[in-house]
Amino acid sequence: MPSILHLDASARRSRSISRTLSQTFIDTWLAARPDDQVIRRDLAIDPPPHVTEEWIAAAFTPTEQRDMAMRDRLSWSDAAIDELSAADILVFGTPMYNYGMPSALKAWFDQVVRVGRTFSFDLSRGDWPLEPVLSGKRLVVLSARGEFGFAAEGLRGGWNHLDPHIATCARYLGVAQDAIETVAVEYQEFGDERHARSRDLAATQVKELAISLAAAFSQ
Ligand SMILES: Cc1cc2nc3c(=O)[nH]c(=O)nc-3n(C[C@H](O)[C@H](O)[C@H](O)COP(=O)(O)O)c2cc1C
Repeated sequence: MPSILHLDASARRSRSISRTLSQTFIDTWLAARPDDQVIRRDLAIDPPPHVTEEWIAAAFTPTEQRDMAMRDRLSWSDAAIDELSAADILVFGTPMYNYGMPSALKAWFDQVVRVGRTFSFDLSRGDWPLEPVLSGKRLVVLSARGEFGFAAEGLRGGWNHLDPHIATCARYLGVAQDAIETVAVEYQEFGDERHARSRDLAATQVKELAISLAAAFSQ
């Protein structure tokens, strides 16, 4: 039975478009597969701590040599990595902030992409010493933006540092590049009919995506 990690990164607890998209995905999935487990991680309710010098020292100390303070420092990270490891599908609801990830989502990545847990490091691999530990997961990125034209060929394609950044780091979540799906709502700041159309289209796309991925897991 697949498990889904449902993660939201919007600071807005109400009226959030990305939260609406991620909830639509989960509701649609559960309508098709009600017994699947959903693991919830809300970064607005429980913001990830920033990485500190002490955190880095703890992460690079071998497990058996960590003292109590080091284990404490890594406890948020350990819990988040356990959730990630247990999930087959990752569903991220995230806004675009300053053309990239919200800092809460970046802090989550910094907590979960960790030596010895989600990647191994070996200089004998030459120019590519980092290798992911996890594999075989799917990632669904459901995002919202105030402006528009962030598709690769769009007006602001070169300003989209959200999707490419997530896609690059997804490797260390155990997600291959061809296992990433994205749906985005644009024009939020314009609040006009283009925004309404974008929202309607995204809602339809998210439902279709959830139905097709849930069906693939049922085969
Ligand atoms: C701090 C902050 C930074 C933002 N930066 C951008 C941006 O760089 N580009 C953009 O198109 N919209 C930007 N927006 C608009 C949000 O992406 C938009 O309001 C979106 O709907 C937020 O997602 P949510 O509805 O899930 O909260 C920003 C909003 C905030 C609060």
